[in-house]
Formats: sequence, structure tokens, C-alpha cells
Amino acid sequence: MNFYELSDKVFKYSFGNPINTEAVVTKGEKVKNEALRYFNIDDTEGMRFTYKMTKEQVVWGLGENLKGMNKRGGIYDSFCSDDPRHTPDKKSLYGAHNFLVVDGKETFGVFIDYPGKVIFDIGFSEESSLIIAIEEKDVEVYIITGEKPLEIVREFLSIIGEGYAPPKWAFGYQQSRWSYPNEESVREVAKKFIENNIPCDAIYLDIDYMERFKDFTIDQKAFPEFKTFAKEMKDKGFRLIPIIDAGVKIEKDYDIYEEGLENNYFCQDEEGKAFMAAVWPGRCHFPDFLNPQVRTWFGLKYKVLTDLGIEGFWNDMNEPALFYTERGLKEAVSLAKVSENENLDIYSFFKLKDSFNNMSNSLEDYKSFYHNINGDKINHYKVHNLYGYNMTRAAGEGLNLIDSSKRFLLLSRASYIGMHRYGGIWTGDNHSWWEHLLLNIKMMPSLNMCGFLYIGADTGGFGGDTNHELITRWTQFSIFTPLFRNHAAMGTRKQEPFSFEEETIKNLRNTLELRYALIPYIYSEYMKSLKNKDMYFKPLSFEYTDDFSKRVENQLLLGASLMITPIYEENSLGRYVYLPEDMVLWKVKNYQERIYEILKGGHHYIDVGLNEVPIFLRKDKAFILGKHSKNVDSLNNEELKVIAFVENETTYVYYDDDGTTKDYKTGTHEEVIINIKKCGEDDFAIEIKNKGNTKVRVLNLEIIDTNGRVHKKILSVET
Ligand code: GLC
Repeated sequence: MNFYELSDKVFKYSFGNPINTEAVVTKGEKVKNEALRYFNIDDTEGMRFTYKMTKEQVVWGLGENLKGMNKRGGIYDSFCSDDPRHTPDKKSLYGAHNFLVVDGKETFGVFIDYPGKVIFDIGFSEESSLIIAIEEKDVEVYIITGEKPLEIVREFLSIIGEGYAPPKWAFGYQQSRWSYPNEESVREVAKKFIENNIPCDAIYLDIDYMERFKDFTIDQKAFPEFKTFAKEMKDKGFRLIPIIDAGVKIEKDYDIYEEGLENNYFCQDEEGKAFMAAVWPGRCHFPDFLNPQVRTWFGLKYKVLTDLGIEGFWNDMNEPALFYTERGLKEAVSLAKVSENENLDIYSFFKLKDSFNNMSNSLEDYKSFYHNINGDKINHYKVHNLYGYNMTRAAGEGLNLIDSSKRFLLLSRASYIGMHRYGGIWTGDNHSWWEHLLLNIKMMPSLNMCGFLYIGADTGGFGGDTNHELITRWTQFSIFTPLFRNHAAMGTRKQEPFSFEEETIKNLRNTLELRYALIPYIYSEYMKSLKNKDMYFKPLSFEYTDDFSKRVENQLLLGASLMITPIYEENSLGRYVYLPEDMVLWKVKNYQERIYEILKGGHHYIDVGLNEVPIFLRKDKAFILGKHSKNVDSLNNEELKVIAFVENETTYVYYDDDGTTKDYKTGTHEEVIINIKKCGEDDFAIEIKNKGNTKVRVLNLEIIDTNGRVHKKILSVET
């Protein structure tokens, strides 16, 4: 084992001959050996790291995963999986995010940098043991020390590199469905948004926009004039976001297929032939994204679509999903050759049944193909979790070559730690189940811990049918997630906001308008989290140190100033909330009406009508509210509201930038720093500093004092 010191808080232990995943960007100094802190190691079979937990310790992290925010009591397989049924018994979803923080009297973080399967048994097999197991002996383990979970997370975020910033328009509402298959259907969706006065920034194109599901092609019958059409839609205020899948269709004369084959750009089977498996297009080959040359080749293909006016993409099926291989099909078909009157014993019956059920995404198939990593032939199974990460990296690097100054929207389904530098993620094929709304809430801070900030779920649920209540409650939560997209599967009930009855449409419109009015705050908090290596969503206990906060799994801190308490249960017209301190409650029906109520610290039941979004403002904090518009490009934020709850003093830093270029990376941005200090009963001293060239001209202050009185002031911003 080699030991490296990355900083006085971050330590790397390198075992065997690990594969460089490029998750961590900080290189450390190699120093003398030392024992792996906190863990006992058993290397008789693979590697097994064990830590004895005390009863009071909470375990946070693991990014996109099932179960609670506190991961104790669960067993999780870190192995990117295309499994659309996210039921509580499942162990893996689409991402592999091997970072967790043990929080208690002894507090530390651990990141297992290993690109194959990792099992996290967190008090599942043995209540007091945290056991991390891998099948091999080549692994890098990072231990991060610090007093508090947030401090540890921020150390971790600083070693994995700055995250991805989408363009500002990507903070608008986005509408998707599998599929809007042709120009007419997309036009119709746009028309309904306009007619119903519902804001929206983007419409997604699912696989049917392609010709026979071939990446970087367009079905000419469905979209005969794609470039003109994309412009027509943009002029109306909607950007189009096409999907790109990992599998490349095997079809003679299809350029991507031909070039990939000719240059050996595809993953190879045991015999050195391009590995073949079927996905949507039928039989496909799979680009070897772990090879930098292949990444450049594939990444530059996005130009086919950027040349047509496209500014955003979603990369899908990149675990990679494999519907079947020749091997799997052959096995199933041979077993199926039984005669109707055969009396199958239970073993042969289940074998037959399972041979079809297990045909997709089988381990045997994942073990049957290879990558070329710096000339070495590496079995896919060993590096499985790097595939989606590197597909999206290919896109990110490609888009950077295509236009180095422009920010593109980029999403991925599969991911590994480090991918946050290139794009965001959506949380895959959830269902229109209330349980999945709650899961969505719980996942958000865990993903932030792993660097992923541009995140969100398929609002309303992907599989199954939503109803008016679920879409309303889910939308009321998703207005706070940076990625805010409503997406549904083929064959399910329509779930665009205008697909419901008048009252629901009205509630959804009001909720979306609130989102747009909150964009100045959401964007400011997003960009500050990115720049300052911070979390946008936090569990309560990452800021409040009282014992009860650690137990709260269904409320989140949002940015510097707010706490949200979503309704996630059917038929609920209210919920229990826990307040670690006095806070202001604003139940938003319509953001233009603001009635504030002070709730004392402690436990409360609050009524929340189906037409209300509860927002809590923390003590000595402030947030910003703008006005809605039909889309982000047409927001006018020259006049902003500053809503503050002041007992003593608060400072809010409002961040903004051009929202389209990468100039923010070199420090080009605007800041308005607002300081409000209570000086007497009705007297507040207000100081406004303007750094950079802010577009804000007027600030309308609403200062709520501890008696619940609102003091209004209008101030102009000096330039
Ligand atoms: C996958 C994606 C889903 C998409 C579908 C068809 O299931 O996760 O979002 O709609 O494929 O492309």
C-alpha cells in the first residue's frame, strides 16, 4: 500500500495497481506508509474494509441511491444499473457514487475510488459494522478528516474539481415525453404552453426524432426541416433537447458505425471483434469511451446537431444498458424449445422463465467485452462504472472543442464521481409513485455531497400514470431542483401541466411562476455552491447542531437562506415540520401575494392546501425574488425583492453572471451584497455593495422583524 497526503485533511491509500478513474483531480505527495485510518482490512478475498460504528453514528452519502438520507441499515451495490423498477429491495440505481460520511462522536469521510462493483454494507449484515467490499485488490481509498460533515464534504468537493455550470436557461422548466415524435407534436406542445400562459424553456426529443434510432441522425419524415424548425421553436422561446444513446446501430453506410469499425473505436469481445448487443436500434456496437481518442471522435459528432441550432443534450442508456446479446438470446431460445405438453419440474420451469427475465444487462455479458486503456485490454466488468461517466465526458469535451466559450445543457443517466465536471444527471426511470417523490427529496443532498449539483428527477414520474394530486405535489418540490423536467414514458397518461383540469392547471401555473420568480435566488445559490465547493441542498444537521435535526429526512435546507418542507403523501393537506430555530413561513399560492407567519423553533403541524407551496426563511437570512416571465431569456431582473427575517443582522450575497459563457470561471460575475442590521425597534441600517456591473437597479426590501411586522423599503442600486 502507498500512502499520499493530499492536504492536512485528505489522505489517499493506494492498494495494488489501481486503475486511474480520474475522479480526483488533486495529486498528493507520496509519504511514508501508514495504516488505513478507521478501517480494518481483510484482503484474503478481494478487499474488505470494516469500521465499527457506534449506535449514534449516522452515515450520509452514496449519491443516487435508495433508502434514507441516513444510509444505515442498508446494503448498496455500487454498480451502474438500468433497472426501471426502483423498489425498496433494489441495491443499485444508475450512478456509482462511492463517497460517504460517518457522522457522530467520530466523524470522517471515505471515498472508494474503484471503477467496478463495490458493496457498501452499512449496518445491514451486522448492525454495528460498516463493511465495504470489492472483489479485487487494486483500489484507492481516500479518507477525509474534519470536525463536521459539511467541512468533510467541502474538502471532498475540492479534490474532485469544480462542477458543471449549465446555461442559465437550463434553470427554466423543461417538458419531455417519450416521445414527441415529429414537428407537429412538438409545435402542439409549445402552442399549449403559450395558450395556457405557462412558462417553459425547453422541449425534449426522445429517441423517435432519430432515423431508426441512430445517434446523430434525424428522421427526415418526422422533421423534414430540422434546422428551420429548431429556429422556429427557439424564436417562440423553446430550445430543443435531443437524446443521444450509447449504442451505435450496426447498419452499413451509417457513418458513425463505419468510422467506429474502421478505427477500432468500439469495445471488443474476447476475439477482438466489435462487441455486439441490442438496444433500441437493434444490434449495436458500443464506443470505447474510456479511450481518449474515441471520446474526441464521438464528442465532435455532437456538432452535427449543434450546427442545426441545438444547445443541449441528454445522454442515455450509458450504464451501458444491454437488452440482449446473441449469447443471451441463444440460451433463452434454446431453453424455450420445449413442447407444450412437457411437464417441467420447478427447476427447469424457473430456469426457462429466468432465461428471458435475465436476458438484459446480464453480468455474463458485462464480463464478455473489453476496453483499450492505454493499450491494455481491460475487461468491462472491472471498469463498468466508468462507462456513462466517460460518454458524458466525451460530450462535454466535444462540446468544448465545438465552442469553448458556450455553456451547453448536458445530462447523463449513468455516472461516477468526477462526471459532475462535465454535466448533470437526471435520476432515471422513476415511477408515478408517491414513494418516488420522497426518494427524489432524499437523494438530492446525497448527490450534492458527491459533486452533482445540476440534478432533478422525472417530475410526475416516468413509468405509470400520475394523477392531478401527484403531479401538483411533485411539481411543488421540483421547482427547487436545479434541473426541473417533467418526463413520462410511452403509453402513460399525458402529464404536461396543461393536460389536467382547470384548477390543476392553475395550481401548476402558479407553481411554475414561483419557480421563475425564484430563479435569481436559485441561480445565485447554485453558482455560489459551485464556486465555493458547497452544497445547494443540505440535510438540516449539516447546519444545525441540535440532536433532533439529524433525524429529519423529509425537509431540506436550500441554499443559504431557505428550508423546504415538501408534501409527499397522498391526501395530505398538511404535514409535521421541525424547526431548529424560529423561522418565517410563507405559504405561496401565488408569489405576488406574500403573507408571512413566524413559527417558533420546535415541532409543528402546518396546513398546506393543494394550491400552496410552503417555504421557510431562516433567522437572520435573506433571499431574492424576481418576477416570472414566459422563459428565462425574457426574465427582467432589474428590480428585485429582498425578503429578510432579521433579529440582529443578515448579509446576502446575490451572485449573477452572463449565464451563457464560461467567463465566470475566470471570475467575471456580478455581486450585490446586501447587509441589513437592526438598530432599533423600527430601524434597520441597510448597506448595499455592488461588485461588478450588475443589471439590478432597484431593490424592494421586505424586512420581517421578530414580531412578524414587515418593514418595506425601496432602494436603488448605485452603479
Ligand atoms: C430510457 C430513459 C428514458 C427514455 C427512454 C426512451 O428508459 O431513461 O428517459 O424516455 O429510455 O428513450
